[in-house]
Amino acid sequence: MTSPLELAYRGAHLDPASRSHLEELTASWSLLADLCFSDLLLYAPLERLAAEPSGREQRLIVVGQVRPTTSQTLFEIDLVGEVIAGAELPLVVEALHTGAIAVGEQRYEPGEGHLRLECIPVRCSGKVVGVMTRVWNPSVGRRRGTLERVYLDLFERFSVMVADGIFPFTDDELPGEHLPRVGDGVIVTDERGRVTFSSPNAVSALHRVGIRSATIGSTLQGVGLDTTVVEDSFASRLPVVEEIEGRSEVVLLLRSIPLVNRDEPTGALVLLQDVTDLRHRDRLLLSKDATIREVHHRVKNNLQTISSLLRLQARRIEAPAGRTALAEAERRIRSIAVVHEILSRDASDQVPFDEIVQALVRMARETSVGPYDVTVSVEGELGEIPAESATPMSVVIAELLQNAIEHGFPEPAEGVAQAGASGVAPPRVELVFGHDAKHYEVVVRDNGVGLPSSFDIDETRSLGLSIVRDLVRTQLSGTITMESDPRTADGGTTVRLEIPAHRSV
Ligand SMILES: Nc1ncnc2c1ncn2[C@@H]1O[C@H](COP(=O)(O)OP(=O)(O)O)[C@@H](O)[C@H]1O
Ligand SMILES: [Mg+2]
Repeated sequence: MTSPLELAYRGAHLDPASRSHLEELTASWSLLADLCFSDLLLYAPLERLAAEPSGREQRLIVVGQVRPTTSQTLFEIDLVGEVIAGAELPLVVEALHTGAIAVGEQRYEPGEGHLRLECIPVRCSGKVVGVMTRVWNPSVGRRRGTLERVYLDLFERFSVMVADGIFPFTDDELPGEHLPRVGDGVIVTDERGRVTFSSPNAVSALHRVGIRSATIGSTLQGVGLDTTVVEDSFASRLPVVEEIEGRSEVVLLLRSIPLVNRDEPTGALVLLQDVTDLRHRDRLLLSKDATIREVHHRVKNNLQTISSLLRLQARRIEAPAGRTALAEAERRIRSIAVVHEILSRDASDQVPFDEIVQALVRMARETSVGPYDVTVSVEGELGEIPAESATPMSVVIAELLQNAIEHGFPEPAEGVAQAGASGVAPPRVELVFGHDAKHYEVVVRDNGVGLPSSFDIDETRSLGLSIVRDLVRTQLSGTITMESDPRTADGGTTVRLEIPAHRSV
């Protein structure tokens, strides 16, 4: 859907450079609204500027609106996209045509009484492309104190910069970055970086980093702040952001905006904010991720320890049955460790399952003992799956792979031809993955001897398939089928799993 703002810009008579200049202004002008305690509206011409200076026929369209956070708003409604005849806003038309700031009274809406308007032409590459209008009601304004006077003076200086095409700054920092606002704390300096004003919030923030002395007349370094933001912003003629760590781990975020007149810095507006809590939270979040990774890492190490213990113990057992049992247990533990190895790399709750599959295939080929060299191929993918499904899924796939390699292609009995023996199709196991929004599908297919004729997955008592059955049905809420079709040329066994993607836990 096209936004009202986009529609407003399409209606306005602006070339692309002018439009992006106005957009940059509205990206950074909440600062200005806060400084003048007023609503700001941005007007653009609806059609080409009329040649004659009166411009009564000129129509205007609102392409920006911002409310102050330091005062109440006059406009409850959104005015973006509104078209106004120039005759109704003569001051705006005047600023548009003369390129000079126009101030006066104006009746906006019937019943609202008279409002004050300050119309500031917005210049871009030497020409006026729009008008930024400050609207306020003098009878409901704030009581005027020092702070109000300083802020309004700053607004006037910014207005001149807007009219001169210096504000908004091009190459200003990335939008979206957290920046301090007027309400967080304001320091004003003169052209040599000496402080001429600190707002109460700025004074409090400075107290928190241990600065209690009077700041007026000193530079920021002079009062003990280890920063060169003001000097840097003078040198670059651009806003500069810096974060400094003061005493007792208090972190201050500073943003110095140079006030520029005829290309000379005449002072700086420094916004500052105590961001200790914010940074502390960032760090906690980071360390939470790190902790999760560390836990997975330790689980993996513990599983590896268990698996080596089992291996050591298996070597000391004479009875082949016992040996096999321990070797199988060791293998199962290892397939769980594979999952934790991958989980320990990042803390997300989705696991890239295809990486796990690679590891499981490698493991199955290493641990399966059989007379044949069985090719294992993987087709399709599952993508990312929830971490809690990854472990049971891995154990299941490891069992099925193992069975396909071991039971599909057993030692040939003396004199009996076996599937996969020379002359027949080469021994092969295929893993096929697929998924849609609702299901994961896993197929393990081999071209081996096929299942015993009496085989029934629900009846089998052996450990491997009991584990598989149990994990698929209870932990994954899925279904499993196993079949051998002697009529197909390949014979062999096909195991099919269907697992719902969103389980209700
Ligand atoms: N892919 C397969 N091809 C042929 N037979 C299989 C296959 N998978 C399982 N079986 C049969 O099912 C039986 C049970 O398997 P399982 O429960 O994993 O126990 P184990 O692997 O310890 O024998 C196997 O002994 C084998 O007879
Ligand atoms: Mg088995």
